Amino acid sequence: MCGIVGYVGDSKSLEVLLGGLKRLEYRGYDSAGVAVLDADGHMATRKRAGKLQVLVDDLTDRPIANGATGIGHTRWATHGGPTDRNAHPHLGDDGKLALIHNGIIENFSELKQELLDSGATFTSETDTEVAALLVGREYDETHDLTESLRRVVARLKGAFTLLVMHEDQPGVVVGARRNSPLVIGLGDGENFLGSDVAAFVEFTRRAVAIGQDQIVTIRTDSVVVTDFDGNPVETEEFEIAWDASASDKGGWSSFMAKEISEEPEAVANTLLGRVHDGIVTLKELEPIGDDVLAGIDRIVLIACGTAAYAGMLGKYAIEQWSRIPVDVELSHEFRYRNPIINERTLVISISQSGETMDTLMAVKYAMEHNARVLSVCNTQGATIPRESHAVVYTHAGPEVAVASTKAFVAQVTALYLIGLHLARVRETLTDAEIRANVAELQAVPDKIAEVLRVSQAEIGQLAHWMTDTQSVLFLGRNVGYPVALEGALKLKELAYIHAEGFAAGELKHGPIALIEPGQVVIVVVPSPRDPDSLHPKVVSNIQEIRARGARVIAIAEKGDASVLPFADEVIPIPLAGHLFEPFLAVVPLHIFGMELASAKGLDVDQPRNLAKSVTVE
Ligand code: AGP
Repeated sequence: MCGIVGYVGDSKSLEVLLGGLKRLEYRGYDSAGVAVLDADGHMATRKRAGKLQVLVDDLTDRPIANGATGIGHTRWATHGGPTDRNAHPHLGDDGKLALIHNGIIENFSELKQELLDSGATFTSETDTEVAALLVGREYDETHDLTESLRRVVARLKGAFTLLVMHEDQPGVVVGARRNSPLVIGLGDGENFLGSDVAAFVEFTRRAVAIGQDQIVTIRTDSVVVTDFDGNPVETEEFEIAWDASASDKGGWSSFMAKEISEEPEAVANTLLGRVHDGIVTLKELEPIGDDVLAGIDRIVLIACGTAAYAGMLGKYAIEQWSRIPVDVELSHEFRYRNPIINERTLVISISQSGETMDTLMAVKYAMEHNARVLSVCNTQGATIPRESHAVVYTHAGPEVAVASTKAFVAQVTALYLIGLHLARVRETLTDAEIRANVAELQAVPDKIAEVLRVSQAEIGQLAHWMTDTQSVLFLGRNVGYPVALEGALKLKELAYIHAEGFAAGELKHGPIALIEPGQVVIVVVPSPRDPDSLHPKVVSNIQEIRARGARVIAIAEKGDASVLPFADEVIPIPLAGHLFEPFLAVVPLHIFGMELASAKGLDVDQPRNLAKSVTVE
């Protein structure tokens, strides 16, 4: 969950490093640092606690010489607090080697003791400094940066992406990765390394993903990738599907505001190329094969946070359309409960970043236990898709704000497409039924756009009235329940308010004790049009809480007059089929979380204590 950039090229290292770190800051932002080799071959480092801007200001006040080789890092603290001393880069004994790290070195204590016994002195509390000292000592023996790093990574346990450079090796940066992301950017007379493609997309859209337990050595005119034993490995170049402007704010007040506005196109772009004549065909599933999919007898959706709530919605659709039992599990729970899976199990991981360690470990477990593994992911070249049998990419574009919004609706879209593909393969839906559901999906972008047009201002006002609110409850039934959970998570992670989502039917089994006069409750109300709708039950739930003084905000289908007498506020959403209502009901909750955080003067894009991608277990 740190941002990493490496560069070899002409004398613009600092611009590349700081520009890349800015685009990666959402990965971690409690301290930042750079190391640069200047034209005379002297290495200069600077690192500061606080956001990247603190480092930028410091470098403006106290410049260091620019150069042609450099590494940079933004940190999300694991070992040692966010201080100048604990910021990366960390140096070898003689200060000639600089190293940056993303991940956790699990056996750092024993290695640190070995170094202390040999007389080493430490300047930080980090696990990273152990690696820096070890590589520096190997270099003093080998004078070969790649070999030195190779020897050290063979001794490390845990998850790491390491980049190193040495004063005696101008024009060389070496990187190694295990269970943590690293991608190569290929330039003309320059090459780049980054924890994701955002690090260098401004300079090149040619990229190469680096696999598990691999080492890469970049120079201005060469890129060499080997495994940890030194054997050359095949690499595959890909083109980054978006440009630098896509990862800029583009005039929006925050990345989150921009990304909420992009929710319609996130759905539309995820549908692109996957529907032909109203029928869903996912070529991406060919590595698993329709014959295997026809024989699957269980699906397990694994994910964390918002992605797990997308999975909960996917469950309803996939079960209804394909008639395959679907379980939704939190990755970190699934991984360690000895789950029952086999070759007839399809495990689908859902991850925006494709680097969430909890989900990556669960994917590895599923692969080791013969399940078929499919990933839904928003980041090309990420680790989780590479560890899976197949991947269905969402095309939401880069999601920079830590709180996930457009990726959520894109994930649900991808899961619905998978459900319709399975229904076709297993013949559990007729072509006409598939076309009808595809038409509903294709109508979603315009309906989300309508919600954004109609409700944004009203929700902003509502949020400004609620800045003193200490607690908000969210209620939903059936497909409204995952929406309630997602709305509660947004309020927690953005406005730092205690918020809890409940299945509305659960209210009477305990949570109703929480209702007291003035308690704010946001209720996701299903459409009344469906004869089997749970609408009457949800309206009863609203009456029960109103009778106890709750202040009710209802998200309800426009024209649903039956809610009006029981709600203090009603936020209307367009009409949609039952399974498609969540696409529309969630958007006001995304806006509400953002607006309330903004009204409270909080950092909407980089909430406290969080990082965009949780790459440690
Ligand atoms: C959602 O707003 C949070 N940022 C968090 O719950 C996130 O969804 C979760 O960490 C999973 O991330 P992933 O989709 O990148 O795997």
